[in-house]
Amino acid sequence: MKSIATQLEVLFKQALSQILGDEASSIDPLIRVATDDKFGDYQSNVAMGLGKRLNQKPRDIATRLVEVLNPLAADMCQPFEIAGPGFINIRLKPEWMARQLDAIPAGGPDDRLGMEPAPDPDRVVVDYSCPNIAKQMHVGHLRSTIIGDSIARILAFQGHEVIRQNHIGDWGTQFGMLIAHLKDQCPEALTDPGQVHLEDLEAFYREANKRDKEDPAFAERARAEVVALHSGQSDTRQAWQYIVEESRRHYEPVYRRLGVLLTREDERGESFYADRLERLVNNLAKQYGPGASAGTPPASGLPSITVEESEGALCVFLRTPEGEPIFKGPEGNPLPLIIRKSDGAFLYATTDLAALDFRIHELKADRVLYVTGAPQALHFQMVFATVRALGWTIPEDKNEEVRLEHVAFGSVLGEDRKILKTRAGSNVKLAELLEEAVRRAEALIRASEADPDKRRGFSEEEIQDIAEAVGIGAVKYADLSQNRQSDYVFSFDKMLALEGNTAPYLMYAYARIRSIYRKGATEGVAPGLPSDAQDAHAPAGNLAGGAITLDEPQERTLGKQILQFSEILDAAAENLKINLITDYLYGLAGTFMKFYENCPVLSADTPEKRASRLRLCDLTARTLKIGLGLLGIRVVERM
Ligand code: ARG
Repeated sequence: MKSIATQLEVLFKQALSQILGDEASSIDPLIRVATDDKFGDYQSNVAMGLGKRLNQKPRDIATRLVEVLNPLAADMCQPFEIAGPGFINIRLKPEWMARQLDAIPAGGPDDRLGMEPAPDPDRVVVDYSCPNIAKQMHVGHLRSTIIGDSIARILAFQGHEVIRQNHIGDWGTQFGMLIAHLKDQCPEALTDPGQVHLEDLEAFYREANKRDKEDPAFAERARAEVVALHSGQSDTRQAWQYIVEESRRHYEPVYRRLGVLLTREDERGESFYADRLERLVNNLAKQYGPGASAGTPPASGLPSITVEESEGALCVFLRTPEGEPIFKGPEGNPLPLIIRKSDGAFLYATTDLAALDFRIHELKADRVLYVTGAPQALHFQMVFATVRALGWTIPEDKNEEVRLEHVAFGSVLGEDRKILKTRAGSNVKLAELLEEAVRRAEALIRASEADPDKRRGFSEEEIQDIAEAVGIGAVKYADLSQNRQSDYVFSFDKMLALEGNTAPYLMYAYARIRSIYRKGATEGVAPGLPSDAQDAHAPAGNLAGGAITLDEPQERTLGKQILQFSEILDAAAENLKINLITDYLYGLAGTFMKFYENCPVLSADTPEKRASRLRLCDLTARTLKIGLGLLGIRVVERM
């Protein structure tokens, strides 16, 4: 099934080609959801732009268009209305919407509510999470991990081929001091790694760092270890391997608890690119360095690229065809992308160039997304601009440019509006934060169980399960429901509230709908009730029989919103704005509550009406479940 907007577009294009002929093919019908109910459900502003283009009154164009459209769209829309200077207001027929809803196939394990996958799927690399080895994950990694994971889920759901890449920081110069320290502190680790566990990796990192600063002899050894690591000396490699493995032991449980998709197979850390850096840098220097034939002259309009030595470092400079530097420092001086330091070491940017080489030329990505904090914006702008200037984004075997996007996000703030810290002033550890969220969720459930008016009689096992789902879901939802680019204030109280745009509110709405089924089953009035109603992990069921009718305004609004889910997903996938989905789900849950207040379900006047409303309940529950699933949030059957 195609989205409402797509179906309207098809009709408008048909009408446009009837009145304009071939010229119509390039015209976007500009179908948008109406800004206000009083203008209908959707509107088209196509006549406004056409007016200018054809030098006619937009209203006259709209009138001609509507004459052709009315019979074409008679099945789907009420007669069109022209407003003001030439806006076309679109009202959907409830019978048409009901038929669309009726056509949605039954739910099941891979339920997609009848939504069609993207007709022209992309191969998308999503680079996310990327913790730095030997340091614990902290809240800074939270956003990358859960935003990236949700984007990966959304794109995969849309039918794109998603390649997750966990570009872990496993190759920095910090390894020199870590390895030197490890060799001193627990040499036995080198011969028998199973013997030792670094319980506190961060303390280990701090100690190594301290020695590196205070003890010149140690610092010397640390530098030698970097050289040994990079040249592949075996005992150093082994120590490195051991430290990386220990780090995984710290972050993998966090992934599991967060329920993110990342596995070992998705890990391709900085070390993977290490032995490609020298060749890459040499090639660039040869092609674009001093005395080089300057490679191929840039295609018109493209920046030119040169590789120059500056204070011993090797730098990439990009200039406009007029010779103006594209990136400038604070004093207007050209800003280089440094690819090799004066001591010969390669940098973060060098590795990112090598990674893009790999992702474009070997993984054959159509789109590469980097989910990292906003402070890295300039880094990615420079890396992307370099790669574009190198011509990599227009591979010979493709006619479309590879899309490179930095999916930037803001910081997590404490209630004091400063970067979230512990009371002692250190970074908040992710594992501890998740633990606290679950603990607080559990306390809330226990408090309501202790209240005779609210008591639900959950078993101990249920309490644990609900607390885990709610606690983790709340943390994820609070993050994903933000405008990604902004900073946000982390508040357990807000994110765990049962009211407002929170995970608990949506999870509760889901559980409430499912309880209607359960009640219907015990009363024996729900037709074709799904047998899985008691099973927490079963898909929301479907209800056979009984056509959907949308008579009451609340039924109509609910039905329309269910049908709009696919449009929301399209927009979220295109713009990488997950909060479009959270806003939608929150709106849908609110619409459902209004529907439920006004339209009796189990006690509907007729069995037909009851069946219709039960199906609306079912579709709403499935939409909530799929939507939350795309955020990596699991629902529970009772709450
Ligand atoms: N490890 C880096 C950090 O913690 C993030 C890496 C992001 N990915 C990349 N390809 N640069 O800041």
